[in-house]
Amino acid sequence: MRKIAVLTSGGDSPGMNACIRATVRRALNRGLSAIGVRKGFDGLIDGDFIELESQNVSNIIQRGGTILHSARSERFLTPEGRSAAAANLRNDNIDGLVVIGGDGSFRGADRLSEEHGIAVVGVPATIDNDIWGTDLTIGFCTAVNTALEAIDKVRDTAAAHDRLFIVEVMGRSAGFIALEVGVGSGAEAVLIPETPTDLDAIVRKVRKRISMGRSSNILVVAEGDEAGNAFEIAAKIEKISGLKSRVTVLGHVQRGGSPESIDRVLASKLGWAAVDALVDGAGSCMVGEINGEIVIHPLSDAWTKKKKLDPLLLVLSETR
Ligand code: F6P
Repeated sequence: MRKIAVLTSGGDSPGMNACIRATVRRALNRGLSAIGVRKGFDGLIDGDFIELESQNVSNIIQRGGTILHSARSERFLTPEGRSAAAANLRNDNIDGLVVIGGDGSFRGADRLSEEHGIAVVGVPATIDNDIWGTDLTIGFCTAVNTALEAIDKVRDTAAAHDRLFIVEVMGRSAGFIALEVGVGSGAEAVLIPETPTDLDAIVRKVRKRISMGRSSNILVVAEGDEAGNAFEIAAKIEKISGLKSRVTVLGHVQRGGSPESIDRVLASKLGWAAVDALVDGAGSCMVGEINGEIVIHPLSDAWTKKKKLDPLLLVLSETR
């Protein structure tokens, strides 16, 4: 192996830059050249490559977003798109690819590997933390703290006005962010896609608290909850009970910002490990960290196995 490429794909997450930096520095350190692919798999198809030297990744460890840009590539979902991508890698004599992204990106990368024999290593980076094979994904902790900071502020105004607030956080199909910030902010209820939502029970709980004089109430809802988005839930609650609420959708603010130390360090370890996995011939795989140890699993585990929510957090989110 003499030359590797790195790209970021899917929704960006804080720490992606730290991971690019570690990948490039480890590659150079092991005597390889490093190529950055811009705009995710679209850049692979278009041959949008830049050579990365050590100085190109200076002063980025603390920056949110991704210097390589990211994309959700429709073209890469097609066999033609993947063939074009593989041809570009071959023409540029690139022997291995590091894909920093979420499970959707890993799925595409695995297909590229299967169909064209390209060695690919996935590094789990998404604010959603919904990837099996790693305790944490890069960006999750920063996103959680961003959301927590916002909810603490919402709590102040909720208390000042004796109001019910419904705060929507990201997580189209996973409740990791909602559960973590729900528990961390002392929310009165957490609504997530993985568990059934009983709006009548939530209304009873809120009414009971109001009758006890505890009139600031916050419901944290993951955007993919079965009861709908925050606005729909607010309307349903008002219909059931007459209770009026205010809605705050945190949205993409959760994806930006400077990564916290935990994400910078995790990104650095995993970028390093990804290069080592490529050089050591681990084949199509993902790197992760479990109980403080770097682990390597087949890439397909990332979407065929389902990461579980922490059962203690589920209990805690119910008991308040
Ligand atoms: O990257 C994950 C995620 O942030 C999800 O939590 C969210 O549902 C989705 O991306 C939003 O994606 P987009 O930015 O493409 O709208």
